[in-house]
Amino acid sequence: MTILALYGLSALLILTSLSMFANMITQKLGSLQDPMQIWNALNTLGLLPIRVRAWIFSTIVGLANPYAKTINFRITELRKGRACGVMKETKEVSNPFRCVHAAALVTFGETVGGLALLTLLGKKDRVILTNISAEYVKVSRGLLTASSVVPPIKDRDATEITTYVLVKNASFETVSKLTLTWKVDLSDH
Ligand SMILES: *[C@@H]1O[C@H](CO)[C@@H](O)[C@H](O)[C@H]1NC(C)=O
Ligand SMILES: *[C@@H]1O[C@H](CO)[C@@H](O)[C@H](O)[C@H]1NC(C)=O
Repeated sequence: MTILALYGLSALLILTSLSMFANMITQKLGSLQDPMQIWNALNTLGLLPIRVRAWIFSTIVGLANPYAKTINFRITELRKGRACGVMKETKEVSNPFRCVHAAALVTFGETVGGLALLTLLGKKDRVILTNISAEYVKVSRGLLTASSVVPPIKDRDATEITTYVLVKNASFETVSKLTLTWKVDLSDH
């Protein structure tokens, strides 16, 4: 067998397993109700480089929430009560003053903040974003990271939850703070 044929065969194998995996995910998906399950499933596929896993997961988030595709982001961490992501300043998300557009920052913050909250919810719980407020502390340029930490939900009868997202630049300087208010229906006791 020539080297070329060998390459072809392994490429075929990778493609087949990727498409099987994509099928499994689309079946599970519907909505992004259980992002941790998808995230963990991706991470058990240790043979995929971390960049590829992050790309697949961000693509899935983009499928569940098409508007998120307007920004170029990657989710870098997801665990119970915590989500982190990165977004690069590009021409598409910048304003004429060469800094990240306010609306792009809000989309980024909502995506990361929403994922962090979803990790704490059961299958039947419902949340709707009712208020998002952004404080632009510094000019946002370059590579930005967003993180959101949500404490465990103790009061299952709560009807409203407020969560926070911090956006930092590459020098770990906070450039923006977002406050998200969610109307919640935690019926999944
Ligand atoms: C939205 O949230 C911000 C920050 O918590 C708050 O200051 C503002 O009053 C809220 N707006 C409404 C309409 O509730
Ligand atoms: C981060 O923000 C601070 C404050 O605006 C700025 O001085 C610094 O140069 C920024 N760092 C990067 C890498 O953009």
